Amino acid sequence: MKIETIKFNGSELILLDQTKLPFDEVFIVTSDYNRIAEAIERLEVRGAPAIGVTAAYSLAIEYLHNESEDGFYKAYDRLKSTRPTAVNLFNTLQIMIVYFEANKTSPFIKNELIELAHKIHQEDFDSCERIAQNGIAIFNKPMNVITHCNAGALATAGEGTALSVIKYGFRKGLVKKVFVDETRPLLQGSRLTAYELDKEGIPFEIITDSMAASIMKDGEIDIAITGADRIALNGDSANKIGTYSLAINCKYHNLPFYIAAPESTFDPISMTGDEFIIEQRAGKEISSFRNNAITKETYNFYNPSFDVTPAELIVGIITDKKLYRFPYNFK
Ligand code: MRU
Repeated sequence: MKIETIKFNGSELILLDQTKLPFDEVFIVTSDYNRIAEAIERLEVRGAPAIGVTAAYSLAIEYLHNESEDGFYKAYDRLKSTRPTAVNLFNTLQIMIVYFEANKTSPFIKNELIELAHKIHQEDFDSCERIAQNGIAIFNKPMNVITHCNAGALATAGEGTALSVIKYGFRKGLVKKVFVDETRPLLQGSRLTAYELDKEGIPFEIITDSMAASIMKDGEIDIAITGADRIALNGDSANKIGTYSLAINCKYHNLPFYIAAPESTFDPISMTGDEFIIEQRAGKEISSFRNNAITKETYNFYNPSFDVTPAELIVGIITDKKLYRFPYNFK
C-alpha cells in the first residue's frame, strides 16, 4: 500500500513526520505556512519532489484561508527560503505564482489554486509510475542493487524515483537484494529506505556509506541507482552527500551508476552542476543524533548536505519521459 507522505484534508496539510521514522508514524496537521516551512527545514518532509508538492499545497492553503494577496507573497517568500538545492521546490512555487498572477481576479481563484496543487501532486504520482516503467530496462538479469539516501514513496507523491525502479524490478524478479547506504549524517537510508523496503518485503542489507567500495570489490553489487535533487543541462546531478563517492566507486569497479528523477528535477537554467547552490546544514547533525551527543559539539564541523555527480559518471538518467544515456541531450 502506498505510504501517504502528503495528504490534504480540504483545509489542512497532513505530513508524515519523517524524523520519527522508522519507529513512530506521527503526522503533522497544519494549515500554517510557517509551520510547513519549518517542516521542510527540519526534514520532517523531505525529498525533492515531496518538498515541491508540499510547497504548492502550502501556498494554495494560505490563500484558501486568508484570501490575502500579501499573505500569498509572504508565504511564497518564506517557502522559497527553506532549502536551496532541490529544484522542484522552486519549479512548483513558480507554477503557483505564475498562475496566481494571471488569475487572481477570478472569483474561483481559491479553488483553482487548490486544484493546481492537486494537479502537481497527481503529476508527481504519475511520474513515479512512468520512471519505474522506463527504468526496468536497466536490469538485464536478476541483480543486487545499491542505493543512497531515500528516493522512495517518502520523498515523492508516488512510489518514488530510484526506489520505484527498484520496487518494480523486484516485482519482475530482476532485483534480488538491495544494499542500503546508511546515508550519514541523517540516516535517510537506514531509517527511511529500510522502512519502505521492509514494508514491501524486498530483501535488503544496511551498510555504512564507507563499506560500498569493499562490497563492490567482493562482486556483491551489480548496479547503483539513486535519486537527484537538481539536474543541470549537461546531466551533472546533485543528490544527497555521498552520491558522488558512490558513483566514483562504481566507475572504479566497472559498475553502472544510474540516476532516476522526474523531469521536474531538471534545472532549466544551469548549464553544469558548478552553478548549483549546495545547502550547508548545522554541525549538530554530525555531532549528535536525536539530541544524543556522539562527539563534542565544541569541535568544528563542515556539513554540506548535497554533492554533485559529474555527468560522465552517470551511465543513464531515467525520467518520466525516457531513459537518457550519456552523453546527455535532454530533448
Ligand atoms: O536532504 P534530503 O533527505 O531531502 O535529500 C533527499 C535526496 O537527496 C533524494 O535522493 C532526492 O531528493 C531525490 S528524492 C526522490
